[in-house]
Amino acid sequence: MFQQESDRKSAISIREAYKTYEGGVEALRGVSLEIPSGKVTALLGRSGCGKTTLLNLCGAMDFPSSGIVEIAGQITDKLDDAQLTALRRREIGFVFQFFQLLPSLTALENVELPLLLAGARNTEATALERLRWVELEGKANSLPTQLSGGQMQRVAIARALVHDPRILVADEPTGNLDTASGDVVLALIRRAASELGTAVVMATHSAEAAAIADTRVRMRDGRIESVVQ
Ligand SMILES: Nc1ncnc2c1ncn2[C@@H]1O[C@H](COP(=O)(O)OP(=O)(O)OP(=O)(O)O)[C@@H](O)[C@H]1O
Ligand SMILES: [Mg+2]
Repeated sequence: MFQQESDRKSAISIREAYKTYEGGVEALRGVSLEIPSGKVTALLGRSGCGKTTLLNLCGAMDFPSSGIVEIAGQITDKLDDAQLTALRRREIGFVFQFFQLLPSLTALENVELPLLLAGARNTEATALERLRWVELEGKANSLPTQLSGGQMQRVAIARALVHDPRILVADEPTGNLDTASGDVVLALIRRAASELGTAVVMATHSAEAAAIADTRVRMRDGRIESVVQ
């Protein structure tokens, strides 16, 4: 009974996931984890322990060699390409270490792009609203090269959240930022969970980033070593 209750709150449920890459690297070796809505879950551990591999499963960008990954109630390796694309576009936002904004588009156009791809209406007004949420509406018409690193990452967060995804997957979101810019980005990630109810799963090497998490998952050699709430 209680188990079912907690499962229903999980945006992502990972059960006994193994991942072996071509060439034989066993990147995940029996990982089970629940990622709840409205909370920030941080994946910690030294380089090569499997954080990005696990994030790729959480974002339906890759699949386990065995085990189950359930995102928003759907088991990812049972979906066809069209269903996977729909799952990623509707339910998941991504933020990366190097921002990955399109250089020839303005800040506003970068944020608008996921909506255009999804065939949404009122794309410009919605994108502008999200830029306002990250306090960058004044930079709507700037190109990425005209923004600071911290501003670029705020645009990337606005883009990741523009379609109200249930899940935000962030890989080293402050890895390329100075402390002050990193703090602003972390505050936004925190707000996404607390205000929008987003399930945030974030890989990080930074103590500041780990500090804003509700749950700290320490990984080692493809396994979960400890979970601290
Ligand atoms: N595409 C791939 N093909 C083969 N091996 C891979 C691939 N991606 C990752 N690996 C290996 O899998 C293991 C886990 O890598 P992963 O990228 O998940 O680590 P990480 O915890 O994110 O590390 P970092 O903190 O450096 O980003 C490593 O041994 C890595 O070399
Ligand atoms: Mg990584």
